[in-house]
Amino acid sequence: MILVAGATGNVGGELLRQLRTEGVPVRALSRNPGRAALPADVDVVAGDFADPESLAKAFSGVEALFLMMSGNETAVVEEAARAGIRRIVLLSSVAVETRPESLIGRVHRDAERAIEASGLEGTFLRPGQFASNTRAWASQIAQGDVVRTPFARVGLPAIHPGDIAAVARTALTEDGHAGAVYSLSGPRPVTPVEQVAAIGEAIGRKLRHEEITAERAGEEMSAFMPAEIVTATLDFLGNPTVTETQALPTVEKVTGKPARTFAQWARDNADGFR
Ligand SMILES: NC(=O)c1ccc[n+]([C@@H]2O[C@H](COP(=O)([O-])OP(=O)(O)OC[C@H]3O[C@@H](n4cnc5c(N)ncnc54)[C@H](OP(=O)(O)O)[C@@H]3O)[C@@H](O)[C@H]2O)c1
Repeated sequence: MILVAGATGNVGGELLRQLRTEGVPVRALSRNPGRAALPADVDVVAGDFADPESLAKAFSGVEALFLMMSGNETAVVEEAARAGIRRIVLLSSVAVETRPESLIGRVHRDAERAIEASGLEGTFLRPGQFASNTRAWASQIAQGDVVRTPFARVGLPAIHPGDIAAVARTALTEDGHAGAVYSLSGPRPVTPVEQVAAIGEAIGRKLRHEEITAERAGEEMSAFMPAEIVTATLDFLGNPTVTETQALPTVEKVTGKPARTFAQWARDNADGFR
């Protein structure tokens, strides 16, 4: 049995679908199964990383766990080991390598360390920017044809969450990935201007990009994000390191299938922008 944390989110949702398609016995974790909106035949079990004891039922009978950073990994991983879980695949971040001193780099590295210290089989996935971050533009697209973002022409190799999930599925279900660290990206850098055009194409509308300053974007983000995360996010988007802009071959190496383009993600998720 595989337990998928974050099953109501971008990567975990894709992972749950892929494992079910393959007929792998799988269970979903959610803090609120009643609101999970997953197919009726999915086994959704309640549990919250903030309260490790609440995970005992979800962890029971599980061999492999897909885990996301929670800030409480030491206790969560101890609970997993107690329940007999052997293998953990962690959704970490490229920031562990490229920005180890940043808050994002530190919290993800702490999560990795907790798994290393446990002695369980661990595999770390370190993606860069997700294609699904552009869901944040849906309300602008609902209101008109203009999407306003900073850093119009800075290209990052945004990754399809389904490709992160495909790497996770491989590491969860096949042997030979214990101790591996997989840095992950999409197939090529794509700028916000190109992303807006691709979403327009996917929904059959002509959308236009308009650049705003980083300061204005920061003010808007501050309404729902802590200041340190706003600063780190803007720095990542506007001032990426060379590594963060590079398209990596890892998705294809691990899964045998090439990483999908941003345009493909936009087509797969067009309904979210209609
Ligand atoms: N976005 C990026 O560009 C990017 C890049 C690199 C790494 N990452 C990392 O990727 C992760 C986000 O992945 P995502 O986009 O797939 O997630 P997401 O769509 O934001 O969904 C978050 C998921 O986490 C679950 N969750 C939240 N708090 C929980 C808790 N206390 N206990 C149990 N489950 C909890 C939620 O489930 P319920 O609400 O059902 O409980 C939900 O399914 C983060 O760790 C982020 O740092 C993101």
